[in-house]
Amino acid sequence: MENEKEIRKWIAEINEVSGLDIEYVADGREAFSNIRKSYGMFSNVRSMLLMKGSSADENLKVKVGYYGEELVLKMTELGLGTCWVGGAYDNRVFSLPEDETLVLVIVFGNIEASIKDKVIRSLARSKSRKDISGRIDSDTAKIPEFVIKGMEAVKSAPSAKNRQNPTLHFRNGTITMTVDLGARFDLIDLGIAMRHFEIGAEKGSFELKNGGEWRNNPCRVIAEI
Ligand SMILES: Cc1cc2nc3c(=O)[nH]c(=O)nc-3n(C[C@H](O)[C@H](O)[C@H](O)COP(=O)(O)O)c2cc1C
Repeated sequence: MENEKEIRKWIAEINEVSGLDIEYVADGREAFSNIRKSYGMFSNVRSMLLMKGSSADENLKVKVGYYGEELVLKMTELGLGTCWVGGAYDNRVFSLPEDETLVLVIVFGNIEASIKDKVIRSLARSKSRKDISGRIDSDTAKIPEFVIKGMEAVKSAPSAKNRQNPTLHFRNGTITMTVDLGARFDLIDLGIAMRHFEIGAEKGSFELKNGGEWRNNPCRVIAEI
C-alpha cells in the first residue's frame, strides 16, 4: 500500500493523544477468509486498522468511533475506499495484550478506477439519511447556525446498520450529544457523529463520552496532514 507510511504516522499521532492502541495490519485477509471478499464498492480487502485500546477505559468505544472516523476521512481524502466492519470477521487471528479490547476493524483499499466516479457520486448524495430536525432536541427555536452546520455534517456520518441514532441536545444554552443504548455499536456511532459535528461546526470539541458536553475551545489537535 503506497500510503502506508503516511497512515502509520497518523496512527502514531492519534495513539499518542487518545491513549488508544490502533494497529495497522498490512494483510489481515486471514481474519476474513470465510467471508465475502468485498466490502461496499471496493474489493480485495487486505489492509485494515485494528481499533483497540485499554479495556479499563470506560469511554473506549466513543474514542474508537471519534478517532477511527478521523482516520476514515483522512484515508478517503487520499482516494482510498474504507469501511467500518463490526461483525463477520474472525478476531482470533489477531493476538492482543491481555488488558486490551478489540472493538472493531476498519478495512481499506484502493477503489477500482472504473467505479471511482460512482463511489464519489454516491457519497455526495448521502443517501437514506434522516432529516436533522428529528435529531435535534432543543428548548428554543433559536438554534445557532454552527449547530445546524454541525448537524448537517452528522447527517452524512456512517453508522452501524445505518441507524443514525446520536441526538444533539441544545438546552439552557448547553450543547450535549447522546445516544440511546440498545445495540452493540451505538457508542461507536456517537464518537463518529461527534467528529462530524466538530468538522461541520468549525470550532470547539466534545467531551468524548455519552452525554459529552460541547466546549467552544479550539479543536483538539489530531494528526496533522
Ligand atoms: C460501527 C459500524 C459498524 C459497521 N459494520 C459493518 C459491517 O460489519 N459490515 C458492513 O458491510 N458494513 C458495516 N458498516 C457500514 C454501515 O453499514 C454503513 O456505514 C451504513 O449502512 C451507511 O451506509 P453509507 O455510509 O454507505 O450510506 C458499519 C458502520 C459502522 C459505523
